[in-house]
Amino acid sequence: MKKKLIAGNWKMNGGLAANEALAKALLGGLSVPACNVAVCAPAPYLAQLQVLLANSAIALGAQDVSAHESGAYTGEVSVAMLKEFGVRYAIVGHSERRQYHGETDAAVAAKAQRALAAGITPIVCVGETLAEREAGKTEEVVKRQLAAVIHANGHCISEIVVAYEPVWAIGTGKTASPEQAQQVHAVLRAQLRAASDHADRIAILYGGSMNAANAAQLLAQPDIDGGLIGGASLKAPDFLTIIAAAG
Ligand code: PGA
Repeated sequence: MKKKLIAGNWKMNGGLAANEALAKALLGGLSVPACNVAVCAPAPYLAQLQVLLANSAIALGAQDVSAHESGAYTGEVSVAMLKEFGVRYAIVGHSERRQYHGETDAAVAAKAQRALAAGITPIVCVGETLAEREAGKTEEVVKRQLAAVIHANGHCISEIVVAYEPVWAIGTGKTASPEQAQQVHAVLRAQLRAASDHADRIAILYGGSMNAANAAQLLAQPDIDGGLIGGASLKAPDFLTIIAAAG
């Protein structure tokens, strides 16, 4: 059976002192996890975390990456830069980037492609807004978002991680029920199977108010292969409980 992946998305939180305390609390509470574990930190702290997490069971992730290789792209961070700091994963297409930074499906696909080419695993986020869900468009939206990434990445698609994050569940305390989440995960799995013979090795994470209390039930669903955790990843005991639930 493939290992689950529990990835923390720290978003724009933290600082040198807080990061150190959190990383140390996580490492102190983690024996040998049965699942893969990562934390996706703000770019300025990747160097700090590379040192703190060296030779540990916690892999380092970034929250975004440029679709461009190098050059005149002020403010962007390239895959080569991420690689220098030991980054294994990069979130791409988080709904907050789609919403506040105008990232299109094509831009997200290009970022995933750039990451894959550099050997960084993109965690490709898809998810519908509340209005889209209420209009019965959930499937259509997530399939369109994933299709762009499949189209751009061809047979490399089996190397990605997908995160289904219903926008209405992010940071709201409103989690998708395990059944609601599983339903969408099954749709995504079918889409991946149609694109790749190795689709079953692709981890499809759930994200959106996953916490210490609801993780076990969500992770018990057949097509939920882990979690992308925001708020609860900032509290070591909660994140450790979620990791244990994925064992
Ligand atoms: P949340 O965020 O767990 O705070 O809802 C998840 C995410 O946005 O990745």
